[in-house]
Amino acid sequence: MNQILLLNGPNLNRLGKREPEIYGTDTLESIELHLASVAERQGFIIDAKQSNHEGELIDALHHAEDHQYKGIIFNPAAYTHTSIALRDAVAAISIPVTEVHLSNIHAREPFRHLSMIAAEAIGQISGFGVYGYEMALNALIKHVKENHHEQN
Ligand code: DQA
Repeated sequence: MNQILLLNGPNLNRLGKREPEIYGTDTLESIELHLASVAERQGFIIDAKQSNHEGELIDALHHAEDHQYKGIIFNPAAYTHTSIALRDAVAAISIPVTEVHLSNIHAREPFRHLSMIAAEAIGQISGFGVYGYEMALNALIKHVKENHHEQN
């Protein structure tokens, strides 16, 4: 099965009401549903998870590899800037990870400029709002197809 994990980190369950001037008004559920339909048209299935807990995010990354997911779209939220454990988890798995941020982390406070994750991801998309998830999905699917990881 062509499964892709959509993994969102802390506070992203509050999307829609959380600092809408920065993160927009779409809810996480609407993002997940939209991404699932875009993926389905291309023959992929989205498994969406969100957690406010670092260890649960690590477990989800490991689980995706152990269950032969094709890749991961990951918004690690604030853990992006702090978590060596999440960086190590991304490094520890061989399936491709695309990092996504709704806001442009490079144009915000200096403490957001560094991503612990970026060097272990295939790429980073930042600053395009919810559309960034779709960009990440398309980039990931292209990567998977070019690397012949897909199965039908
Ligand atoms: C975020 C950016 C992070 O700096 C922040 O802590 C978040 C969301 C984004 O999607 O723009 O929670 O990852």
